[in-house]
Amino acid sequence: MTDTVTLTYGDHTYELPVIIGTEGEKAIDISRLRADTGFITLDTGYGNTGSCTSNITFMDGERGILRYRGIPVEQLAENSTFKETAYLLIHGRLPTQQELTEFSIMLNDHSLVHEDMKNFYQHFPSASHPMGILSAMVNALRSFYPALNNTAEELNMTVTRLLAKIRTMAAMSYKISRGHTTVYPRPDLAYCENFLNMMFDTPVKPYEIKKEVVRALEVFWILHADHEQNCSTSAVRMVGSARVNLYAAISSGIAALWGPLHGGANQAVVEMLKAIQADGGNYRRAIERAKDRSDPFRLMGFGHRVYKTYDPRAKIMKKMCDQLLPALKIEDPLLEIARELEEIARKDTYFIDHNLYPNIDFYSGIVLRAIGIPTNMFTVMFAIGRLPGWIAQWKESLEDPRWKVSRPRQIYLGPLTTDYTPIQER
Ligand code: SDX
Repeated sequence: MTDTVTLTYGDHTYELPVIIGTEGEKAIDISRLRADTGFITLDTGYGNTGSCTSNITFMDGERGILRYRGIPVEQLAENSTFKETAYLLIHGRLPTQQELTEFSIMLNDHSLVHEDMKNFYQHFPSASHPMGILSAMVNALRSFYPALNNTAEELNMTVTRLLAKIRTMAAMSYKISRGHTTVYPRPDLAYCENFLNMMFDTPVKPYEIKKEVVRALEVFWILHADHEQNCSTSAVRMVGSARVNLYAAISSGIAALWGPLHGGANQAVVEMLKAIQADGGNYRRAIERAKDRSDPFRLMGFGHRVYKTYDPRAKIMKKMCDQLLPALKIEDPLLEIARELEEIARKDTYFIDHNLYPNIDFYSGIVLRAIGIPTNMFTVMFAIGRLPGWIAQWKESLEDPRWKVSRPRQIYLGPLTTDYTPIQER
C-alpha cells in the first residue's frame, strides 16, 4: 500500500501517490496531476519541486549534510582524490586499485586536445571571459570527437575524454590569454599535478609542484564535484533530455554556472573583499548594505537555496585556508576581512533570521588565490570540479526509463483573444 495524499477541490477528491526517499524526504508524485485533475502546479524557481529521483548525491540543508553515493563529503575530502571521487560519482561506487589505475591511464592518454583547437582560442577577443571560452570550447569538442554513447564502452570513452581534456582546455585559455606558449600534459603527472603544471610551468621558470598545493586542489575539486539538482546541473539534465550530445549538455551547464548567483559567486566574493579592502577594510558598511533591501548589494558567498545552516563544504574550505596559507607562507589580507565579515554576519539578527551562512564560495576564492589562480578563472575551477557531477547526473537521466524530454507547463496571464490591427489603425 503506497502512501497517498488527498487533494480536494470543490466536490472533487483526488488521491495522489507519495514517494518517500531513502533519507525520509517525502514527495507528492504529480506525474498524472493534469491528466487526472486538469490542474498543474506552479513553483517559480522550482524550490519545492523535485525534477527527478536520483541515487547520486544527498543534501540535507537543515542539518548541513552532503554525501556522494552515501559517503560523507568530509570523509572524501580527508581520504580521497578528485579522480577517485569522480569515479565514485559516475560509476556509483569507489574503484578497485586496478580500475583506478586504468582510469588514470585513460585520463592521461586523452588529455591532449586537437592542435586545430588552438586556432579557436587565438580568435577570442583578449578580454573574453574564460567561462565563455570554456563553454564554447567544450561545445566545439563535438566537431573534433564523436560523443558516442551507444554502448557502455563508448559512453565511458566519451566521458573520460571530456574529464581528461577540460583541464587542458582551461590551462590553454589561461596561457593563451597571457600570450604564453601552452604547456602540454605530461604522462608522468597525475590529474591535479598535470593541471597545475600546464597552468604555471614556463620555459624560463619550471613550476615547482608542492604537495600542499596539490592537496588543496584535490580537496577544492572534491568539494565542488556534485550538488544534486542545482541550477547548472538542472541545465545539463534539461538540455540533455533533448538527447543532444554530452558536450552540448555540459556546455549549457558551464553557461549556467557562470552566473554570479551560482558558480560565479567565488569570483564575486573576492571582488567584494577587494572592494572592502579598498574602502579601508570597512566591512561594517558591506554588512549594512547587504541588509538594506533598497540596495541590490548582497554579501556574496553568503546564503544558499538549500543550506539553511553552515554549508559543510565552507567549513572544510575555511580549514583549508588555515592550513594552506601558512604552509605557503602567504598572508592574504582578504582572508582577515572574510573572517571579520563572517564573525559579524553570524551574530547579526538579519543574517540569523534569514538563515544566511557562508557557502562554499565564501572561502574558496582565498584558496584559489593562494594557489595562484587568477580571479577570472575561479569559476572555471568550479566547472572542472563540477564536471563529474554533471556527467553522473546526465548519465543517470539517460538511464532513467521515466525520463523524457523536459517540457514544463505555465499559467498564462496574457491578453485574451485579440484581433490583428493593420498598422495604419494603431
Ligand atoms: C552556489 O544550488 C546549489 O547547490 C548551488 C551551489 C552548488 O554547489 O551548485 O551550492 C553553488 O551557487 C552557492 C551560492 C553562491 N551564490 C552566492 O553566494 C550569491 C549570494 N547569495 C544570494 O544571492 C542568495 O543567498 C542565493 C541566490 C544563493 C540564494 O537565495 P535564495 O535562497 O533564493 O533566497 P532569496 O534570494 O529569495 O533571498 C531570501 C532573503 C531575501 O531577503 P527578503 O527579501 O526576504 O527580506 O534573504 C536575503 C534576500 O535579500 N538574502 C541575502 C543574501 N542571500 C539572500 N541578503 C544579503 N546577502 C545575501 N547573500
